[in-house]
Amino acid sequence: MEVTNVMEYEAIAKQKLPKMVFDYYASGAEDQWTLAENRNAFSRILFRPRILIDVSRIDMTTTVLGFKISMPIMIAPSAMQKMAHPEGELATARAASAAGTIMTLSSWATSSVEEVASTGPGIRFFQLYVYKDRNVVAQLVRRAERAGFKAIALTVDTPRLGRREADIKNRFVLPPYLTLKNFEGLNLGKMDQANDSGLASYVAGQIDRTLSWKDVQWLQTITKLPILVKGVITAEDTRLAIQAGAAGIIVSNHGARQLDYVPATIMALEEVVKAAQGRIPVFLDGGVRRGTDVFKALALGAAGIFIGRPVLFSLAAEGEAGVRKVLQMLREEFELTMALSGCTSLKEITRDHVTTDWDLPR
Ligand code: FNR
Repeated sequence: MEVTNVMEYEAIAKQKLPKMVFDYYASGAEDQWTLAENRNAFSRILFRPRILIDVSRIDMTTTVLGFKISMPIMIAPSAMQKMAHPEGELATARAASAAGTIMTLSSWATSSVEEVASTGPGIRFFQLYVYKDRNVVAQLVRRAERAGFKAIALTVDTPRLGRREADIKNRFVLPPYLTLKNFEGLNLGKMDQANDSGLASYVAGQIDRTLSWKDVQWLQTITKLPILVKGVITAEDTRLAIQAGAAGIIVSNHGARQLDYVPATIMALEEVVKAAQGRIPVFLDGGVRRGTDVFKALALGAAGIFIGRPVLFSLAAEGEAGVRKVLQMLREEFELTMALSGCTSLKEITRDHVTTDWDLPR
């Protein structure tokens, strides 16, 4: 049967993937309250469409950190994509390029920065986890720069791994035929089996819990690439990120995989947008599954959005073709939402095009 929306890939992936892998991709932390809320919150935002506007031409293009892309829909970093499909991150990179948009490669990819670069031209960001060994970090950032990556997305919500109970039950571990390719030569590419989540143990062993704002400044001494701070959900941290020299913010709760009972990202977005005062762009990820979700995020002030799980599930179902299809479906739904709302370019999407249950009565 034909796939007609992004959500349908989840069920297909569930049938195809080993339970350990599907659960790792799908699950959130603890009660998974935030996981459900990331989706539910979108349904509490309704449209105020404008009518009788010529929508025969719609322009979805935008510019992110100076790079022109075909639509404000980008790919979030997600780890270990070769568990989904043999081509893993390479298929994702090709699909993103074909769609004219940005892919963010995870530090924990099962393909290296060089391998991803060799798939051909494309605008790519590199997501960074900061290891205790700062030489490892400096080397990795240099390699990403050399491989033509255009920005660093510094993940700041993971001093420790969130408690993902499915991974604990399944004793999740990277399958032995795969490696965290970026760390292969550094003896950090393998994950040991543990008596809980192998990834949680890996993080506890290698990731630097002391990471703080001064390290954001340190990062700027080792790279000229712009830094996006990924994982901000408050006004306070927005102001600190700007002070620390961030080029942008990604409002993210890590796909609800870290601290449970944080708000849905779409609920936190406006607070961050207001605090940023237009000084740096604010992006969002978490629960985006429809073109209407993309529109809602832009109406609430996002400069663009990123998708995580839809890439993994479509990759598992159909490889590169699946990821292309996800991007195409979201593009078409978003274009239709713009048309039916009376918007012909992204700058025409305003706060008045949506109403939320936290707005005052008009
Ligand atoms: C992630 N995410 C993530 N983030 C990051 O900074 N580095 C990483 O390696 C990963 N890995 C990862 C693996 C898996 C399986 C998932 C589901 C997520 C978080 C990701 O970048 C993004 O914030 C969320 O996935 C967005 O939410 P949705 O679109 O999955 O709802």
